[in-house]
Amino acid sequence: MTQALGILGTGALAAHLVTGLRAGGFNAEIIVSPRGANVAATLAAEHSVQVAASNQEVIDRARMVLVCLPAAHGANILRDLVFNAEHSICSAMAGLGPDVLSPLAAPASVSQVMMPGASNAIGAGPCLLFPAGQEWQALLAYLGPVLVPSSQAEYDIAAVFGALSGASFVLMQALATWFERRGIAPELARPLVAATLAGNAAVLRDAPHDWDAIIASVATPGGVTEQLVGALGQSGGLTAWDAGLDAVLKRMTKG
Ligand SMILES: NC(=O)c1ccc[n+]([C@@H]2O[C@H](COP(=O)([O-])OP(=O)(O)OC[C@H]3O[C@@H](n4cnc5c(N)ncnc54)[C@H](OP(=O)(O)O)[C@@H]3O)[C@@H](O)[C@H]2O)c1
Repeated sequence: MTQALGILGTGALAAHLVTGLRAGGFNAEIIVSPRGANVAATLAAEHSVQVAASNQEVIDRARMVLVCLPAAHGANILRDLVFNAEHSICSAMAGLGPDVLSPLAAPASVSQVMMPGASNAIGAGPCLLFPAGQEWQALLAYLGPVLVPSSQAEYDIAAVFGALSGASFVLMQALATWFERRGIAPELARPLVAATLAGNAAVLRDAPHDWDAIIASVATPGGVTEQLVGALGQSGGLTAWDAGLDAVLKRMTKG
């Protein structure tokens, strides 16, 4: 067995992660599973990835294995595979916890990761990892900041950010569309929205201030920010996020 990275499930997420790993300088061997033929062929051609003949071959050739299989079938696919105690498995499948994964991958160790995908391809997306583990933290660091919750319960709630991440594109699209419908060119609307949110996200990430201090520093009393926030509050535009995130949490934890 080599120090190669194995990936089971060669679809959209695997493509993002391989792109991010190679762009970040990860030069070790990457072996992917044979399904997802177009993606696997592209990754082989562009990122020197090896395509295994079977899922079991991925397991046999790699000690660290990232599982990017469809969540609906992942358990059944893993059930057919044979792992040993040296294997370290990290699953990106949403909604499958250690209660399901650990028995299937035994005697291998199992951790879970959630990530946005697209932003990991440019080394800028967070990876939420649990439990902590030096090897996976080092590998995932090629893809963006690695965040480690303190408990499984905290991971389960924090992992809802996977849905928030995807939905944030739809939010940005809705905002850009508002500007476009009022006559702003798409080439201006899109970077305007993206740069506004990216800049403010950088402030939020780095600022020592609490929320109130940050908001007070940008919102003049009686000004337009206050007006927009008030209108959103009155129409339920802010609390609607609570209900949506609660629904995702319920589904992901089957609660
Ligand atoms: N997309 C993201 O950015 C993202 C982010 C966070 C987490 N995730 C999680 O990552 C997982 C994969 O998502 P995805 O968007 O990458 O899905 P996807 O594009 O559908 O990729 C899944 C891949 O798994 C392959 N597959 C299906 N059955 C298989 C089997 N029996 N053996 C080997 N491979 C098999 C599929 O191959 P075929 O095409 O041949 O069917 C496909 O290439 C999901 O569990 C999702 O919750 C995704």
